[in-house]
Order: sequence, then structure tokens, then C-alpha cells
Amino acid sequence: MLRKAKINDINQIQELINTFAKKDLMLPRSLNELYENIRDFWVYEENKNIAGCCALSISWGDLAEIKCLAVKKGKQKKGIGSELVRACLCEAKELGAAKVFALTYQPEFFKKFGFRKVSHTGLPHKVWAECINCPKFPNCQEIALLKKL
Ligand SMILES: CC(C)(COP(=O)(O)OP(=O)(O)OC[C@H]1O[C@@H](n2cnc3c(N)ncnc32)[C@H](O)[C@@H]1OP(=O)(O)O)[C@@H](O)C(=O)NCCC(=O)NCCS
Repeated sequence: MLRKAKINDINQIQELINTFAKKDLMLPRSLNELYENIRDFWVYEENKNIAGCCALSISWGDLAEIKCLAVKKGKQKKGIGSELVRACLCEAKELGAAKVFALTYQPEFFKKFGFRKVSHTGLPHKVWAECINCPKFPNCQEIALLKKL
């Protein structure tokens, strides 16, 4: 079941994200960040367990960002990641965003939804505020992709 996240999903969301972060596939998220941004999150719940999560964050102007996309290892390739991305894209449209971007190591997955590669420098400065706290800064290999809604 796809739904908006609730406060008591936070521990499972963190565990899911940080499992992939340990493998260098995504950035780790602190509990503090998750509490502050829980209203951005969508989750996919199966038998009371969180099988996937994804967040839509409003960035600046008419630009939104899809972040924290993760689907549990044993639950991948069943369409859960796609459902989560589609929910975020619909929400972005409802909120009045005109463009959505993602910074990712999985560009091919995002291209399936019409995202196209863009230069990092084309994104607003605010986007990089979060990067300063990243252990990988400034040698980031993430690819920036943008979709116009
Ligand atoms: C990337 C990820 C979210 C995809 O979730 P998923 O539930 O497996 O995706 P879906 O089942 O909805 O896949 C939809 C399609 O994308 C394809 N796909 C899935 N992962 C892909 C990838 N990494 N690269 C290219 N295509 C991919 C699937 O084969 C499927 O193709 P089809 O429609 O032709 O059958 C998941 O693999 C994951 O959590 N990876 C680890 C964390 C991560 O890298 N997150 C992204 C950080 S931005």
C-alpha cells in the first residue's frame, strides 16, 4: 500500500536508507532530518513493514526534488520504486512545481520517467547547501537529472 509517511515509520525509513548508504548507494539521513522532513515522505507498506520510501522536497521557485528513494533488497523490481516516484511527481504537480530534479547514481531508472541529464551548475545554489554536510563533498559523482512537468 502506497501512503504518506507517519512519524512512527521513521525508524524503518532510516534503516532502509542507511542500509544503502553504508554501500555508498545513497546519502545517510539522520533521525533529526527525517523528523523535520517526514511530511515530504511517501512509503510503500507491506504487512506493516516499510518496503520502500521516497521524498518530495520543495527546493526553490517552481523546482522540487525527489530524494531518499529506496526499495528493500528483496522487494525490488516489482514496481514499488516506480509507484513511489509517480506519487512524488503527482504531488509536485498538485503543489504547482513546474520542474523536478534528482541527484542520483541510478540515472537509467529516472530516465524511464522522462528525467533528462542536466549540468549541476544549472540547479539553484540552494540545492548545494545540503551537499556541504555530505562526506563526499566536493567530489560528488551523483548525476543531476531534471523532468519538466
Ligand atoms: C533504484 C530503486 C529505487 C528501483 O526500485 P524498484 O522498486 O526496483 O524499481 P521498479 O521495480 O519500479 O523498476 C521499474 C523499472 O526500472 C528498472 N530499474 C530498476 N532499477 C534500475 C536501475 N538501477 N537502473 C535502471 N533501471 C532500473 C526495472 O527493471 C523496471 O524496468 P521495466 O519497467 O522495464 O520492467 C531500487 O533499486 C533501490 O532502492 N536501489 C538502491 C537505492 C538507490 O540506489 N536509490 C536511488 C537513489 S536516488
